[in-house]
Amino acid sequence: METLVIDHPLVAHKLTVLRDARTDSPTFRRLADELVTLLAYEATRHVRVSEVTVETPVAPATGVRLAHPHPLVVPILRAGLGMLDGMMRLLPTAEVGFLGMIRDESTLQAQTYATRLPEDLSGRQVYVVDPMLATGGTLAAAIDFLFERGADDVTAICLLAAPEGVAYMDKAFAGSGKPIRVVTAALDERLNEHGYIVPGLGDAGDRLYG
Ligand code: PRP
Repeated sequence: METLVIDHPLVAHKLTVLRDARTDSPTFRRLADELVTLLAYEATRHVRVSEVTVETPVAPATGVRLAHPHPLVVPILRAGLGMLDGMMRLLPTAEVGFLGMIRDESTLQAQTYATRLPEDLSGRQVYVVDPMLATGGTLAAAIDFLFERGADDVTAICLLAAPEGVAYMDKAFAGSGKPIRVVTAALDERLNEHGYIVPGLGDAGDRLYG
């Protein structure tokens, strides 16, 4: 698995305001939206394209267009919904599927309560969006699900990640043979005893949606 921490002053600035406990929900939603667009720019570096030729007003020009089928974007409900618009701004023709997952706060195990995805994802490139990669249980379960349906290339965009979650994902998918990338704005210090990222930004779902 490849982990990419985006080192950019604008990303760092927006993430700092997002972390601040005094930032209200409307500002938090706007910043999360802006951040995902910046992260998505790097996360789509491997998006599949096909060569095409277009006629400019002057002459033919070779270029590229997104290859078919276009990518699938999967927000993990509920907090991932706050990242969907920012993602679709860069990939307006992407298809969207939904996974509803919640982490049991006592066992820290992820449970799936809703799935609305194409049945057959054979050969599809998928972008998963979820603000937090904490223990990694939620993201690993989501990626397992996508692989079971045939996806062969998954990039997760997370605003924040914990080293424990990245290590868990590394181990879970070692030898899977399929490309998996995690793109994040920061790799924080650790998880606390409640499974929260430290210093983190609190509960992203609550800060987005109350
Ligand atoms: C949060 C977050 C991830 C998950 C990360 O969601 O958005 O989905 O926890 O934790 P993990 O890496 O330890 O599995 P939560 O379960 O709070 O649900 P919500 O989005 O509905 O608030």
